Amino acid sequence: MSQESTVRKVAGSAQPAPTRDTLKKVGIMGLGTAIPEKVLTNKDLEKIVDTSDEWIRTRTGIKERRIMAEGTGTSSLAAEASRQALKDAGISPEEIDLVLVGTVTPDMAFPSTACLVQAELGIPTTAMAFDLAAACSGFVFALHAAAQFVATGACRNALVIGADALSQLVDWEDRTTCVLFGDGAGACVIGPAESGGILSAVMGSDGSASDLLKVPGGGSLFPKTKENIDSKEHFIKMNGTEVFKMAVRNMVDAAKKALEQSGHTIEDIKRLVPHQANLRILKAVAKGLGMPEERVFVNVDRYGNMSAASTVVAWAEAVRAGDLKKGDLALLLAFGGGMVWGAMVVEM
Ligand code: UT7
Repeated sequence: MSQESTVRKVAGSAQPAPTRDTLKKVGIMGLGTAIPEKVLTNKDLEKIVDTSDEWIRTRTGIKERRIMAEGTGTSSLAAEASRQALKDAGISPEEIDLVLVGTVTPDMAFPSTACLVQAELGIPTTAMAFDLAAACSGFVFALHAAAQFVATGACRNALVIGADALSQLVDWEDRTTCVLFGDGAGACVIGPAESGGILSAVMGSDGSASDLLKVPGGGSLFPKTKENIDSKEHFIKMNGTEVFKMAVRNMVDAAKKALEQSGHTIEDIKRLVPHQANLRILKAVAKGLGMPEERVFVNVDRYGNMSAASTVVAWAEAVRAGDLKKGDLALLLAFGGGMVWGAMVVEM
């Protein structure tokens, strides 16, 4: 290989482009969660729509979910989870120079939820703060994206958040969706490390399947006109059966590729930490990977599907429960509307 091709220049910069040898390892420094206090049980839902605790539990594994307090927005949950993650990492807000929030329920169209968190936490104005929309894969996509900044040295420490309040997007008269979702947030601080951390990442997207799960209204195509609101265009529409099949297929496939990329087998993984949408999906993914179910972290029973918050909250809870200790490997998995999916092998 010629000298010219190995020492490529970054466009518009005098700096040599990073190579595989100069990229830094990206370590996991701290994790945090924010779970709203208000509990909505299956029994509560029986009073709202034509459903039953038995149907919800047997079809989804969900027993209850949490609903964000009135008068608060996603940024409040995101900020609370971030405070915990910073404390866990032993890092002060001044040391953060990237805030990246995966969310599809920002407080408002703009400013970004990341900017609101930055201000709330007193993170310096030299930090770059922005949101990323990848539905239920929001955290995993954000973690992979933020890791690139840390790996190249463009940023030192990054605060990565998955936060959503899908209670604001469900039609509380539609039993096929309103029983599935809950609100919450999780956060993770990453920074340069000597070893361990993020060992591999495999992401995928298929916009041709975007009709399977979407919120058509409220954006630029179908704005919030009275007609669009009356026809419930601003609520979640989902083809559950097709999403189920696609979720299992793509999470299994991405997980296998992420293991191959990191040079591990499923036996090396202490805990599978998947997006929590449906217990049956988790069981099918475990089966597809040949992983015993007891090594899959599950909290869907307590929170339902928290969208972008789901994987990071499960990860933080697995660590808190002592399921993942220093040196243990976790396999993070996500799948969501887009369709978008991702898998990451991480060493604590
Ligand atoms: O985060 C990523 C996005 N989301 C997902 O990953 C969700 C993926 N999909 C699923 O989890 C499942 O497909 C669901 C839980 C959404 C649905 O389970 P299913 O076993 O695929 O049920 P189904 O949609 O085939 O519905 C079966 C029946 C239907 O009645 P009929 O047509 O057989 O008479 C539904 O109307 O269950 C009925 N049903 C309900 N009954 C009571 C649907 N929702 C409810 C409900 N309570 N809440």
